Formats: sequence, C-alpha cells, structure tokens
Amino acid sequence: MSNILGIETSCDETAVAVVRDGREVISNVIYTQIPTHTLYGGVVPEIASREHVLKINQVIKKALEEAKMDWDEIDAIAVTYGPGLVGPLLIGVSTAKALAYAKNIPLVGVNHIEGHICANYLEDKKESSEQASQDGGIEPPYMCLVASGGHSHIVRVDDYTKYTIIGRTHDDAAGEAFDKVARAIGLGYPGGPKVDKLAREGDPNAIAFPRASVGDSKYDFSFSGIKSAVLNYLNGAAMKGEEVNKADVAASFQQAIIDVLADHTIQAALDHGMKTVALAGGVAANSLLRTTMKERAEAKGLKFHCPELIYCTDNGAMIAAAGYHEFVAGRRADLYLNAIPNLKIGER
Ligand code: KG4
Ligand code: ZN
Repeated sequence: MSNILGIETSCDETAVAVVRDGREVISNVIYTQIPTHTLYGGVVPEIASREHVLKINQVIKKALEEAKMDWDEIDAIAVTYGPGLVGPLLIGVSTAKALAYAKNIPLVGVNHIEGHICANYLEDKKESSEQASQDGGIEPPYMCLVASGGHSHIVRVDDYTKYTIIGRTHDDAAGEAFDKVARAIGLGYPGGPKVDKLAREGDPNAIAFPRASVGDSKYDFSFSGIKSAVLNYLNGAAMKGEEVNKADVAASFQQAIIDVLADHTIQAALDHGMKTVALAGGVAANSLLRTTMKERAEAKGLKFHCPELIYCTDNGAMIAAAGYHEFVAGRRADLYLNAIPNLKIGER
C-alpha cells in the first residue's frame, strides 16, 4: 500500500491531494485563482506564480490534515514538472524538492497531461456521478481524448506509464476555442463552463459552423476554423445591426467542436482495436461531450469512462495517481528536477 502526495501548480490552481495506490482519494484540496485572473480576462503568469507562493504551504498542510496523516505515512511526493507556465511550475517543483529532501521522502516528477489521463483511475467515496466508476474502474489499454485549455490530444494508453499520441491539434486547443468564443459573446473567463451552461438554452442546429478535419491525419484536429467562423458570424451580424441569439451561437459552436472530438476519438479507438474510450482534461467536464461520447461509443460497442467532474479540471489527485504508477515502475526524480514548460506526453 502506498500513499502518494500529489502537488499541482502548472497554471491557475494550487492543488494538493493524498491518494492511496493510485485510486483511492484520501484528501483533495484545490485553491483556485480563477477569481483573481477573471479581472484580466485570462491567466496572468506572474500573478499566478505569486499566488502559488502565498498558498502552497497552506494547501499542503490542509491536504495532510484532511487525510489525517503525518509525513511519515507518505511514501512519495509527486509533482507536476511540465507542461505549463514556467513560473507556476517552479513553485511546485521547488516546494516538492525541499519537502522530499527535508522529510527524506522519494520524489517523482509527473507530466501534467498524463496526470489528466490518470484522473480516470480515481475513485472518491464522497462523490457520486452517473457516469464515472460504474464499471468498477478502468484499466489500460484504452483510447483517451485529452482536451484542456492548453492541449487537445488523442492518446492510446498502452499501459499505466506508456502513452502513444494518435492525434493532436494543429492550432488551438479545444478549451482555448471555448474560452475565445465565450469572450466573443461576452461570457467572460473561463469560458468553457459558461458556454456549456448557455448552450443548454440554445439550438445546436441553428447555425452550421464547420467541422474541420486536417489533411494529413484523420485523427488530428483544427479548431481555429470553427473559432473564426463564430467570430465572422458575430461580426457579420453586428455590421448588419442584427441581434444574435447567444444561446444558439453557444449551442451550435459547442456541437461543432464535440462532433469532431467524439468522432475522431471513437474512430481512433475502433481502428486501433481498443475496447474502451475515455475522456480527460478540463473540457471533459463538458456535459454534452460526456453524454455524446458515451452514446456514440456505446453505439459502436465500446465501453466509455470519464473522471468525476472535480477530477477533470486541474487537481492534485490526478498527479498523485500518475505519480503512483511512476513510483511503482521505479522512476525517481532527484534534486536536479526542473520545470519543463513544453514537456511532451510520454517523454521521460
Ligand atoms: O485542465 P484544465 O483545468 O487546465 C489546463 O490544463 O488547461 O482545463 C481548463 C480548460 C479551460 O479552457 C476551460 O474553459 C475548459 O477547460 N473547461 C470546459 C468546461 N469546464 C472547463 N470546457 C467546456 N465545457 C466545460 N464544462
Ligand atoms: Zn490541466
């Protein structure tokens, strides 16, 4: 049995959790900086770094308190070392190194995107969701869509620490497209949850936005075309003095993005002989994406899995889960561990 303390500071959440054996969440503390960054319409890296410095010690302390554990019960410290914003990453990495050294606890470096994927293994007795964990947990191999504010990938998860990228975006990330369209229709930051909510009142077939594919790989994505089509639609209406139905714009845009995300992922799973598809990353919190992926996957005879909502956006539990699998595979970081802002999936 191993208790892993996971530390996540790659963007705008200071998050720490204790997870047992990569699955059982013992504590999960998230301090979100969103209200601070909302003032500026997006994440300001210097402010994010400063907030992490101010909060990290309190968040670690609270995670241990909620787990009712002392340092001698922690078997390893897992920390995100990339990808992400360099300043924020450095706060987590240097804190984790100092603690590992002072408390003489093994240190494991975790890739943030692999962390998002490992959120699929988490079980939380306190939370319940209609979709997650119904099948008693997921095991590799499976095809996973990882869609967040900075990344959109289709990843074949071959084993708990082995990943192969099957598809990627050529321009914007899916979450970035949600955030930009939200800003254009005046919804503010972060846009994803706001588009999700407004879209429920709109007609997804009201406006035909393009479902772009990219020539050289049938699994790759391009979201800048959809985003530009939305901006052109809004500008066109403004020039003609016409009022737009924002809910219809949100619903039609969201449907266009989700059609592409779901169809490419399911096709990749079928072509690679996978029996299960999974979701990960902040966009995996999208209610229509969750139901659409489930319906379309099951229609093709595939099993579907997604993390509980709280584990889709950035958190420490997913880092502890990924760290656990690295730890049992024997991987250790030393005190030279550095932040790598553009760390790639599968890179060690
Ligand atoms: O994984 P995450 O917390 O941070 C990154 O690693 O980027 O993802 C944040 C992204 C943002 O772009 C946010 O707008 C999007 O996930 N997001 C959503 C939803 N909740 C968060 N996008 C669509 N629908 C949602 N419900
Ligand atoms: Zn993330």
